[in-house]
Amino acid sequence: MNLNEIERTLRQLRLSGIAATLNTRVLQAQSSQQPFLETLAALLQDELDQRRTRLTQRRLKHSRLDEQPSLADFDWRFNPKLPRQACFELHALKFIAEGANALLVGKPGTGKSHVAKAVAYQATLQGLAVRYVEADTEFAQYALCSAAEQAALLRAYVEPDLLVLDDLFLARRIPEAAAELLQTVVHQRYKRRRSIVVTSNRVVQDWGKYLGDATMATTILDRLMHRAAMLEFEGKSYRLKEAAARLLTSPAPDA
Ligand SMILES: Nc1ncnc2c1ncn2[C@@H]1O[C@H](COP(=O)(O)OP(=O)(O)OP(=O)(O)O)[C@@H](O)[C@H]1O
Ligand SMILES: [Mg+2]
Repeated sequence: MNLNEIERTLRQLRLSGIAATLNTRVLQAQSSQQPFLETLAALLQDELDQRRTRLTQRRLKHSRLDEQPSLADFDWRFNPKLPRQACFELHALKFIAEGANALLVGKPGTGKSHVAKAVAYQATLQGLAVRYVEADTEFAQYALCSAAEQAALLRAYVEPDLLVLDDLFLARRIPEAAAELLQTVVHQRYKRRRSIVVTSNRVVQDWGKYLGDATMATTILDRLMHRAAMLEFEGKSYRLKEAAARLLTSPAPDA
C-alpha cells in the first residue's frame, strides 16, 4: 500500500485522526529516525486527541450555548457583594452529581447569565450533556409548535444532565402552554434528580403573577428549591459600565 491507500484505509476504519496526521508523522519519523513504536504511539495519541475534541464540539453544539464565558474573565471587584464562593462552588459541578439546582436571581447586568453560562460550558468540557435555554424566547416559541415538536422539545429539556433556564420571566408573563411546560420540565427533572440552573431578574415572590397561577408557581418553586443553592446578585449593571466606557472612548461629535 502507498501512503494514499493507507490513508483511505484508515478512513474506512474510521481512524480519521491518524489519517489526518499520517503524512506529518511519517516525515517526522524519517527526519529523526524515530523508532517505530514512538511513531505509532504519536499516531494513536493523535486519534485520541481528535476524538476528544470532536466529542466536546458535539456536546457544545447540542448544548446550544451561544457563548462560552469563563469565571476567569469575571471582575469580582466590580460588584463586591456577589456570592463569589457560591459561584465557584457551582463551577466545581458537584451540584450536578447531587441532582441539586441553583437559582441565580438579582439585578440586571450583574453577571447571572455570565456565571450560568460559565458553569454550563465547564459541564460540557467535563463530558456532561447540557441544554442551555433562553427561557422566554424558547418558551414563547414552544407554545406555537406542533404536538410532535413539543414532545421532542420536552425530551431535549428533560434528558440532559444539566438544564439552564436563562433569563426566566424577562418578559414577565409567559404563555399558558409555556407555563405548563415549565411545570412539567421541573417536575420530570426533579423526579430524575437532574439539575436545573435558573437565572432571573424577577424576585421569586412574583413568579405566581408571571405564570398566571399561584398554585403552579408554588408547585414549581417547591421542587426547584427542595435541593437548591440560592445565589443573590446585588449590585450595579456591568452593561452600564461598558456603555459608559464606550461613550468615553468614542470621538466627540463636531460642535
Ligand atoms: N463582574 C463582571 N465582570 C465582567 N463582566 C461582567 C461582570 N458582570 C457582568 N458582566 C458582563 O456584562 C454583561 C451582562 O451580564 P449578564 O448578561 O451576565 O447579566 P445578567 O445578570 O444576566 O442580567 P439580566 O438580569 O439583565 O439578564 C455580560 O456581557 C457579562 O459578561
Ligand atoms: Mg441574564
